[in-house]
Amino acid sequence: MVSWLAKHYSSIIKLDRITWLKRDYIERGVVYRIEPMPGFRRGSGKEIALPKPVIPRGVDASEILLTRRSIRSFKNKPVELGVLSSLLHIAFGVTKWEEGVYGHDLYPLRAFPSAGALQPVEIYVSANNVAGLPQGIYRYIFINHSLDPLKLGDYSKTLSEIALDQDHVAEAPIDIIITIFWARSAWKYGSRGYKYSLLDAGFAGENLYIASKILGLGTCAVGAFFEEELCELLGVDCVSEIPVLIMPVGYPSEEGWVF
Ligand SMILES: Cc1cc2nc3c(=O)[nH]c(=O)nc-3n(C[C@H](O)[C@H](O)[C@H](O)COP(=O)(O)O)c2cc1C
Repeated sequence: MVSWLAKHYSSIIKLDRITWLKRDYIERGVVYRIEPMPGFRRGSGKEIALPKPVIPRGVDASEILLTRRSIRSFKNKPVELGVLSSLLHIAFGVTKWEEGVYGHDLYPLRAFPSAGALQPVEIYVSANNVAGLPQGIYRYIFINHSLDPLKLGDYSKTLSEIALDQDHVAEAPIDIIITIFWARSAWKYGSRGYKYSLLDAGFAGENLYIASKILGLGTCAVGAFFEEELCELLGVDCVSEIPVLIMPVGYPSEEGWVF
C-alpha cells in the first residue's frame, strides 16, 4: 500500500468506496429508480438549428489515433458554423434512436458510449470566433442538434481566467465545456452513477480529440479550472451538474504541433 496516499487522501478513498458495487446490493435488490428520470435538456425556444453536418468519409482511424496530440496553439482563423455543426455531431451527436427504452418511444444513443445509455454528458460551446454565429455561450441540445444561447458576448478571457489563465483557452475560436448532469445516472445507479458519469465524460472528451482531427482541427483537454466559477458562468448548480473539462478547439498553428 502507498501509505502517504491513504494518510492524506482518506476522504477520497471513502468517496470512491461509496461508488463500489457490493454483492449484497444485488442480493438485497437495491432499486434506485423511485423518482421520475431527470429529463433530457431541451431548448429554451430560442435555439439555433445547426446546419446539416458534413461527414468526411474514408478517414484512417488508426492514423488519427496514432498521431493524436494535445494542441495548445491555434491560428487566428474563424471556424465556420458548418464545421462546428459537424464537430458537435461527430463527437457528441445522436447516432441512433432506439425504440421503447426507459418508457420513451424513441431514446437517443450517441457517438460515445454511456453507462446504461443514460446520457449524463452535457456540452456547452463558447463561440469566440465562429463565422455565422454571434459570440456567446450556448448549450448544445443534442436531441435536436441545435445551440441554445445562454449569454451573448465574448467570454474567452473569462474562461481563460477561470482556467488559471491558460492562454490556449483564451486564443481558441471555440471552447467546448463538458459537464456531467450526473443526476441522470444516479437515478439508476445511485452513487455509482457519479463514477459512471465521469467515465462517460472521458469518452466524450476523446471523441472530441478524434472529431477535431477528422475535421483538420485540434484540441486539448483542460482539467485545471475553478469549478464554482465555471458553474456560475454556465448557470449550473454544481450539485446535480458539474463541469469536468474545458476543451479549446481551433485550427492548429505550426508550433501547435510541437509539444
Ligand atoms: C484529465 C486531463 C486534464 C488535463 N488538463 C490539462 C490542463 O489543464 N492544461 C493543459 O494544457 N493540458 C491538460 N491536459 C492535457 C495533457 O497535458 C496531455 O494529454 C498530456 O500532456 C499528454 O499529451 P498528449 O495529449 O499530446 O498525448 C489534460 C489532460 C487530461 C486527460
